[in-house]
Amino acid sequence: MLVIGIESSAHTFGVGIVSNGRVLANEKEMYDLSTTGMIPAKVANFHAKNAGKVIVRALSKAGVSFGDIEGVGYTKGPGIGPCLQVGQLAAKAIASKLKLKIIPVNHSVAHVEISRHAGKLDDPVVLYVSGGNSQILKFASVPFPHYRILGETLDVGVGNMLDSFARKLKLTPAWGSTVARIAKAGRYVEMPYTVKGMDFAFTGLLTHAIERSGEEKAEDLCYSLQETAFAMLCEATERALLLSGAKELCVCGGVAQSERLREMLDAICKSHKMRFGYARNEFNADNGAMIAFAAEKMLKKGCSLPLSKCDIKQKYRIDSAVVVR
Ligand code: FE2
Repeated sequence: MLVIGIESSAHTFGVGIVSNGRVLANEKEMYDLSTTGMIPAKVANFHAKNAGKVIVRALSKAGVSFGDIEGVGYTKGPGIGPCLQVGQLAAKAIASKLKLKIIPVNHSVAHVEISRHAGKLDDPVVLYVSGGNSQILKFASVPFPHYRILGETLDVGVGNMLDSFARKLKLTPAWGSTVARIAKAGRYVEMPYTVKGMDFAFTGLLTHAIERSGEEKAEDLCYSLQETAFAMLCEATERALLLSGAKELCVCGGVAQSERLREMLDAICKSHKMRFGYARNEFNADNGAMIAFAAEKMLKKGCSLPLSKCDIKQKYRIDSAVVVR
């Protein structure tokens, strides 16, 4: 089977091609957020301009043509409405023209499934950390197969919090990865810490770090902000692991690219003799391959929809999506 997947939920327009679980192509173009942040209409225009180019590049990289493809997956949500619409329309155009099956995919499920596959994990607790999402998940089969949310952010995603801080400090590029680089030279200064059971919150931490920006060195604030945020995620994740009785941990999403976060999670797993797994960075950043990967599994179980029922859903929570494993 050969399936193409289109991802457009936020700043990335990605196209992946997968054949029987193997990634043949994973191409993308990214809107530059570093100065303006996410302006939906501008990002959607960027996606519309780049869609054709990225699709053609993915086909060429995979060494296949439109005629070889059997199904089209696209991100239904969660994400930014105008951006999701561009991917949905591209997928519908391809499916309609070539008379192919079309499969709407939950973006969060796609992140989890490609990471679970890459990490060779069976039934892990999942820490899903990205710009807009920060959740602790575990698969549940009732009342339908889905990822149950054991804990989550009570305000913003950890990735957006780190990016916001980078913009406030006028770091270049203004991303969480720059905070991580600068943090390596920092020492700890006290920060607020908010964990409630398996939930956590980041805005108090962000506000405090911004307020201290005239008084403390940038490297100390970057280090303390990152360490505190990651420690909060680790405490809640460790609690979820122990309460659920899980023997495996998976981390996924854009912030899963952080070596420091993975180091902290690895230490937790080692202390409890649990397995720890994650995907390569290209699959933790937003990408089309994960959408194709999830869509192919769904298509093999007959989960395509008629074109008229293929919509988008900005607030498509992971626990409302049926998971095909
Ligand atoms: Fe994502």
